[in-house]
Amino acid sequence: MPFFNYKEKKIYYQINGNGTEKAIIFIHGSGGNSNLWKYQLNDLDGISSKIAVDLPSHAQSDKFSELSLDLYVDVLNVLIDRLKLNEVILAGQSLGGAVIQSYYFKYPEKVSALVLIATGARLRVLPSTFEILKKDFQEFLKFSPIGAFYKETSKEITDFYIKEAAKTEREVFHDDYSICDRFDVMDKMNLIKIPCLIICGKDDKLTPPKYATFFNDKIEESELILIDKAGHIVMLEKPDEVNQAIEDFIEKYLTV
Ligand code: COA
Repeated sequence: MPFFNYKEKKIYYQINGNGTEKAIIFIHGSGGNSNLWKYQLNDLDGISSKIAVDLPSHAQSDKFSELSLDLYVDVLNVLIDRLKLNEVILAGQSLGGAVIQSYYFKYPEKVSALVLIATGARLRVLPSTFEILKKDFQEFLKFSPIGAFYKETSKEITDFYIKEAAKTEREVFHDDYSICDRFDVMDKMNLIKIPCLIICGKDDKLTPPKYATFFNDKIEESELILIDKAGHIVMLEKPDEVNQAIEDFIEKYLTV
């Protein structure tokens, strides 16, 4: 299982592929980890390498004393440099979307395309989310699928999500949500000059289709895919549709 070093700490990532030609790197959302991309790591076609990272303090990566968006961006940069990738597509869900937008604004020349999944250019968090998290972590985990999933998403999927989320400490969830709450790049969309695929579940209550439409209206070269019967964890809820959208996007916009 691969790890890379970041300032004496170990960062875990999963890789499925052979080579450095063209890679897509997936960044999870608040309290998540790389396992939430299992259907993309295993089933996505049309690209030589698929990579997913556990951000600092998440799942198998080492614990850090302080978490920040700058840290997440810096860790991603070290990974990209270590793997010596030729062409990089960044895909991020929710908080991961904030990470990849920030990465692009800092290192525009190192990214070929963005896949913005269930995310936004501004990610204010409901005050009640912080309150429930503070009051009772087990309750928070138990009820998290209500906001995060389409109402008919199977128990198998929501249970898998809870099991993975339970690997994250309460404080890490808190820090991730605080990072989201402060994130706002709504006035920087005109700076995005690479192709962007925007994916959003039609029943996403946490980052609603309005956020996706905003991206699509403001970004010069973008494509919007709204997915039926899916909520905020769309990559687990509708993996076939998400993978198809990414494959079509890669074929259309990127060199092989
Ligand atoms: N893209 C486009 N529009 C956005 C946006 C985005 N990323 N983020 C906010 N806006 C819009 C809102 O729709 C709102 O528009 P309106 O005035 O026409 O209704 C306006 O900008 C201000 O919204 P916001 O900054 O969110 O402040 P608020 O006080 O209206 O609402 C919350 C605060 C927390 C209630 C609200 O952001 C919310 O419901 N968030 C989703 C729930 C959540 O916790 N998500 C987790 C994200 S990680």
